[in-house]
Amino acid sequence: MSEIFQPNPEFAKNANIGSMDEYNTLMNKAKENYEGFWGDYAKEKLDWIEPFTNVLDESNAPFVKWFDGGKLNVAAQCIDRHLDTRKNKAAIIFEGDRGDVQTITYLDLFKNVNRFANLLKEDFGVQKGDRVVIYMPMIPEAAYAMLACARIGAIHSIVFGGFSSEALKDRIEDAEAKVVITADGAYRKSKPYMLKPVVDAAITEGSPVKKVLVVERNNEDVTWVAGRDYSYNELIKDKSTACEAEPMDSEDPLFLLYTSGSTGKPKGVQHNSAGYILWAQMTMEWVFDVKENDTYWCTADIGWITGHTYIVYGPLAMGATTVMFEGVITYPDAGRPWSMVENHRINQFYTAPTAIRVLHKMGEDAPAKYDLSSLKVLGTVGEPIDPPAWKWYYEEVGSSKCAIVDTYWQTETGGHIVSPLPGATPIKPACATLPLPGIMAEILDPATGEVSEVGETGYMCITKPWPAQIRGVWGDEERYKKSYFGDVVKDGKPVYFTGDGARYDEDGYITITGRTDDVINVSGHRMGTAEVEAAIKKHSNVAEVAVVGKPHDLKGEGIFAYIVLKSDDGVADEVEEVKAINTIIKKEIGNIAVCDDMIFAPGLPKTRSGKIMRRILRTLAKGEEVTQDISTLEDPSIVATLTSMVNCKTC
Ligand code: WTA
Repeated sequence: MSEIFQPNPEFAKNANIGSMDEYNTLMNKAKENYEGFWGDYAKEKLDWIEPFTNVLDESNAPFVKWFDGGKLNVAAQCIDRHLDTRKNKAAIIFEGDRGDVQTITYLDLFKNVNRFANLLKEDFGVQKGDRVVIYMPMIPEAAYAMLACARIGAIHSIVFGGFSSEALKDRIEDAEAKVVITADGAYRKSKPYMLKPVVDAAITEGSPVKKVLVVERNNEDVTWVAGRDYSYNELIKDKSTACEAEPMDSEDPLFLLYTSGSTGKPKGVQHNSAGYILWAQMTMEWVFDVKENDTYWCTADIGWITGHTYIVYGPLAMGATTVMFEGVITYPDAGRPWSMVENHRINQFYTAPTAIRVLHKMGEDAPAKYDLSSLKVLGTVGEPIDPPAWKWYYEEVGSSKCAIVDTYWQTETGGHIVSPLPGATPIKPACATLPLPGIMAEILDPATGEVSEVGETGYMCITKPWPAQIRGVWGDEERYKKSYFGDVVKDGKPVYFTGDGARYDEDGYITITGRTDDVINVSGHRMGTAEVEAAIKKHSNVAEVAVVGKPHDLKGEGIFAYIVLKSDDGVADEVEEVKAINTIIKKEIGNIAVCDDMIFAPGLPKTRSGKIMRRILRTLAKGEEVTQDISTLEDPSIVATLTSMVNCKTC
């Protein structure tokens, strides 16, 4: 039995959902009248230009439509409708790497986004439906760029600033983007770093990109290609602050975000307008319980879904104040986040377990040095959190009075799906607890489609469509169906499978156990093993490679590669070979995919039909003994060879 912590009663009194009774009432309402539940919220929470005529259309499942017939604009939802009551309220508080602070009110945001939208339309010819790639640091202009696209109906595709030029190029080309918005660079640990050269390398002969907009943040020298590259700082000067918001259909695409799956090529996850913004706003109100005067900070990067939904769209849709941070949370020391909490009187703080582990390790006593009394809700996301990190977060950061919301969700779900509600749910360390009201999340046995027994690990599924669900994989209908609706069938109907394993405890609480597919989770970042393998295979001397995840103290999972070289005479210089392969990985994907371990093996454990037995490789990488049956292997002796190589490496 794990410990259980009740919600703080003082907090619960004013919480948006303040008891389990309220939670159960909402959940029952959704179960009894699913469309009524969602239809009512859509009417209440969203500002419609034209009302919708139908709540949910499942006739072409798994392709679904929500709030059909309705028209709205997501940027107007995030900005314009707040101007009457909140024009002078801070929308974004930006803190730069070097401590520079900028407060952007809702009125400022309105003007900046409109100018940006006019620039895209007038100078770059961007129109509704065009794809715009955003490759930006964490600066306010990144949020303006997103909202400017939303305002004119262009579809943004943000590529995380840590991705390499090859990764950026693939994403630009898959989306056929005609514009890239970037910056010269930004600051990290007080030093300038560069982004524009990566963009330059990504745009080669035949690229669909016609124009590049460069925000000058650090004013370092960059190369300007005449007729293609333009300075934002120059063009923005004469732009009008008036720009009508394009009326968008509920199901018009809002953005693409590429994420890793179990094959080599990343998937362009598509989110559409109304359903996404509705759930972004509702989960902000329910899970973070943000109040009018609160200041909320999510430390994610806008290059990931967490940054989309919980730095920009969710907080702004509800009219909150959202903090954006350019820097590194451990710089100048591990007290940085706590000094920011004190300085900005932050009320809700949302980060990843990997960050919590690092902050714990580097500054166990740091929280005590700051006034953290403003904190009410602490959040975590991205990977299962381990109980020691959870405990430190709860006790030292939250002084045992803040709820921890362990939010489980993914790029494809658009927003949280399983999470505690801070004023209602009794919490247990490292447990995502219960599905949010309206989300029919169930752990199913993949063989039978029945709900899993308590304590049994099953597949985390969602059995009914929900408004913020992925609408498609860009340009690949089949892949959408196969990736998400191919593995689990319940009552004769394929249901959405997340790719994660999970189990119920005796209270019906859900604990996420991790991915069941070939996706690994490095510091909360999703990485397909096939993607890393494809990069390693680019090395001319690599014959075969298999990549698996292995437990890692700080990153959650690390990357372990088993490599078979072409040359028979083994590795001449192992250190050089490792360096060469990691250089290729950095070029193809980025630093986040660099391997923690590499073994140059004489072979891989394969069945007689040639299938690599990854389970064996995972067991070995964990440092565990292989106990599974190896008699079906083509060459069972390879297991002993690999075992001694791995042991030798870790001894
Ligand atoms: C994992 C991030 C355990 C999970 C929002 C999921 C989690 C993947 C949690 C999605 C959590 C996310 N507990 N695991 N609270 N949150 N995950 O698309 O494996 O970058 O499938 O979205 O992260 O990663 P993604």
